[in-house]
Amino acid sequence: MKSNKKLAPTIIVIFGGTGDLTKRKLIPAFYNLYIDGWMPEKFAIIGLGRTKLDDDTYREHLHNGLVEFSRKGKPDDAQWDQFKTTISYFESNINDPAAYEGLGAQLDALDKEWGTRANRLFYLSIAPQFIESATLNINKYKLADVPASDRIVVEKPFGYNKETAVALNELLGRTFQEEQIYRIDHYLGKETVQNILAFRFANALFEPLWNRNYIDYIQITVAEKVGVEDRGSYFENSGALRDMIQNHLLQVLCMVAMEPPISFQAEEIRNRKVDVMRAIRRLKPEEVHKYAVRGQYGPGWIGGKQVPGYREEPGVDPKSNVETYAAVQLFIDNWRWQGVPFYLRTGKRMQEKTSSITIQFRPVPHSTFSSSQAGNLMPNRLTINIQPTMDIRLRFTAKKQGLEMSLNPAEMVFDYDTCSTQTPEAYETLLLDAMRGDTTLYMRSDQVEEAWDVITPILETWESRDSLDFPNYAAGTWGPESAEALIARQGHIWALNLHT
Ligand code: BG6
Repeated sequence: MKSNKKLAPTIIVIFGGTGDLTKRKLIPAFYNLYIDGWMPEKFAIIGLGRTKLDDDTYREHLHNGLVEFSRKGKPDDAQWDQFKTTISYFESNINDPAAYEGLGAQLDALDKEWGTRANRLFYLSIAPQFIESATLNINKYKLADVPASDRIVVEKPFGYNKETAVALNELLGRTFQEEQIYRIDHYLGKETVQNILAFRFANALFEPLWNRNYIDYIQITVAEKVGVEDRGSYFENSGALRDMIQNHLLQVLCMVAMEPPISFQAEEIRNRKVDVMRAIRRLKPEEVHKYAVRGQYGPGWIGGKQVPGYREEPGVDPKSNVETYAAVQLFIDNWRWQGVPFYLRTGKRMQEKTSSITIQFRPVPHSTFSSSQAGNLMPNRLTINIQPTMDIRLRFTAKKQGLEMSLNPAEMVFDYDTCSTQTPEAYETLLLDAMRGDTTLYMRSDQVEEAWDVITPILETWESRDSLDFPNYAAGTWGPESAEALIARQGHIWALNLHT
């Protein structure tokens, strides 16, 4: 088996080792890194959980997850047999100090066996109320006492609002230095999202047009076909604005709108991104109704099957006021973007699963062609499809073949599907970066706090006033009509036909 000799020996400790994320994402990511030769020569994965399990049963549980969720499907038996020896289970209660003593002894034993102090990567995949106990005990028992090599990865939700996010940053800051803290947003690990930086800053062609002089508006859509599934009680305390816009959509917006960084250094990129967050105009409470729309799905049809409304989902209050759809119009107050609307929308139980960015260019300033020649002359549009389709499409106008001068829209396409290599999962990229000590794709404390600040007026306004029309869109549609009206006021429409 190939291994990454450049990476120091590493012990990965997963708090929430029996949880869904570990099974669905973390172990498949580590396994795929392993078989592709990216894991360090020496590594160990310790999964922590309250359930009583022996190592074999735990490994079997993770194997089932691999079969179901890994992008490579069922693992090869021989490779799995090798990989599984690196995994062990540690039964523990997060609030029990004795557990940390025991964990410390295990970490020390591995160091002794390997003859070196290994890097330690603590992965917190636990409910927010346990983070305090975990970090304080890691500190108390000196489990992460080498700042240069010990790191902590923290999963979302990163706070419940700005105040709790600030408190969480302070708490983490008591044990770890900022460069040891990896706040994960898996959207930043997606291949197509990272490609935004390559596309913008490795080509001379687009950047000169990337501003208010040429761009009419920008849309970012993250639409899901699934409902809240079995996460009803989590979603009741979250809603689409917190769950998606505060993190994933705002992070994507930063990638699209940031100024060119001087270098590809983590701090440089994070500085440019935080500049964008700071420049986003904060809405006044009385403006919220004009620039933000919320929705909640009712019963409907998805793929020919009838599905229940949000209020009928398990764990959801039958009178719930929580939004499963949110659309917002934002402005970025700087020289580049002044006056260009950024429309962000996300929703569950939508007609299609798609995440995409639409850069709508302005129409030509003067039409040289007669109206009969021009037909429906459409302005240029660049579409960056993040998932499930992964491509970049540039719409332009061309002459239709034939004896007459008549114009037609055409497209240039860069399609990932035509590339021979498989695309790594976001978690593979991000976990490898965490092991390498590269924070570029992770969120810094100030970014997170600014993102909360952006959505606070909307959150507070929505929480202070129940929506009177929920549910206001049927499952299997593109969301509430008011979202169409939100952008129709500026003469714009949502780019629905995303692949043409
Ligand atoms: C998570 C949200 O962060 O992202 C989920 O909590 C959402 O509600 C998920 O379904 C979407 O991620 P992806 O990668 O499937 O688009």
